[in-house]
Amino acid sequence: MTPSGRFVTFEGVEGAGKSTQLRRAASWLRARGLEVVETREPGGTPLAESVRNLLLAPRTEAVPPMAELLLMFAARSIHVGNLIRPALERGAWVLCDRFTDASYAYQGGGRGLDMDVISALEQAVQGSLRPDLTLLFDLPPEVGLSRARKRQPAADRFEQEAIQFFEKVRNVYLARAAADPARFRVLDAGGTEAEVSTRLEEALSGLLKT
Ligand code: TMP
Repeated sequence: MTPSGRFVTFEGVEGAGKSTQLRRAASWLRARGLEVVETREPGGTPLAESVRNLLLAPRTEAVPPMAELLLMFAARSIHVGNLIRPALERGAWVLCDRFTDASYAYQGGGRGLDMDVISALEQAVQGSLRPDLTLLFDLPPEVGLSRARKRQPAADRFEQEAIQFFEKVRNVYLARAAADPARFRVLDAGGTEAEVSTRLEEALSGLLKT
């Protein structure tokens, strides 16, 4: 069955404010009478949230980057099959806090894995499913990380990485956005919450009309 809803993803480095903006976008769309599903990756279903816990817990044993990537896609396979596709097929709007662009940015950019391997997994797990719109909340990583650390002092396994890791993540996000301007909207996350959400609503209005 061809999905008939809309699939919108929210991306950016830690502390860019994407989760807050996702909640605002959901209220804005619901006020227009639409069914909205708010979800996140890794996670989104009970089983995929268990995989999330495995991925985010700080640990002393090394996590090979390829294992990290495969766990991300294992969680994604569960999430796509059990939640995202069924929601899109009944016509809902799915707002997802991170999706496959994060695998390109973190595992490809941050960890240095081969982008072709990521692309092969994307194809195998998602088939033709791609976001209709991706909002990239852009911010210098040092600003984002200090915001994230204030909010939640106990860092997860990713937040423990050095600033250079997040610079690489940001660069891959920006390169992907530049390569696919039809799907991406880059929002300067340094503005006030209200400014950012006005620009976000403009992007959603565009998608509402299609
Ligand atoms: P967050 O959504 O609370 O920011 O935490 C999720 C973490 O997982 C974040 O540091 C980014 C990371 N991540 C990846 O490395 N690859 C992925 O494919 C996804 C979805 C998330």
